[in-house]
Amino acid sequence: MDTAHIEVTTIAELANAPQEYRDAAVKIVRSHAINELYGAQVFDEPAVALAPTPYWKWLTCRVAMEEYGHHQRFFRLGRKMGIPEEAMLPGTTDKRPLSIFEFELKSWTEFCVIKLLADMAEIIQIEDLMACTFHPLRDEAAKTMPEEKFHAGFGVRSCTELCATDEGRREVQAAIDALFPGMPAFFGQANSKNNALFRKWGLKQSTNEAMRADYIERARVLVEDKLHLTLPAPLAAGA
Ligand SMILES: [Fe+2]
Ligand SMILES: [Fe+2]
Repeated sequence: MDTAHIEVTTIAELANAPQEYRDAAVKIVRSHAINELYGAQVFDEPAVALAPTPYWKWLTCRVAMEEYGHHQRFFRLGRKMGIPEEAMLPGTTDKRPLSIFEFELKSWTEFCVIKLLADMAEIIQIEDLMACTFHPLRDEAAKTMPEEKFHAGFGVRSCTELCATDEGRREVQAAIDALFPGMPAFFGQANSKNNALFRKWGLKQSTNEAMRADYIERARVLVEDKLHLTLPAPLAAGA
């Protein structure tokens, strides 16, 4: 692959980077700002009302607060980079949120499975960004990681608790069956031109295909080895 590795240590330095690098950095920051906010709006905030006990409401509030915080983090970085605010808000731009957010949240169990499976996908993306050549973005990713780990851990703990009863196990399996097949598409198309550009400049390290394979294996360990449930096949699209 054609590589053009540079390190951009401050936002001010970004002005000296090639246009292609700047455009690629803007794309990544916009996508994170939009998707973190959209996820908080359609999943985490409504889940507070679905949480069954004060304990889980408390933890769900914390998750919702942190997801809005992730949006704020990327939004503030984007603003300093000169990205217009409306370009970082869902519904106000040409950039559609990811298809995963079209899943209609109906139950507490589904929310727990979203945290189990979708936040694992987020962890893989953020891990990759922690080696990004644009250091201000790398730094925001590093701050986000412990919180995403908490969200994924919340998913494991809540699903484990639900699986203690036969009915709960059936519900968790049904939610996994509904949610998982579309998840691998979260990592984007194979042979993606955007991804090739991100890797050319060291903004991202892994191909969409490699991240997807990593995700499917980690999801398998969680669902099959930890919860002793069945991981359905992913949808062919995007695989
Ligand atoms: Fe997040
Ligand atoms: Fe999260």
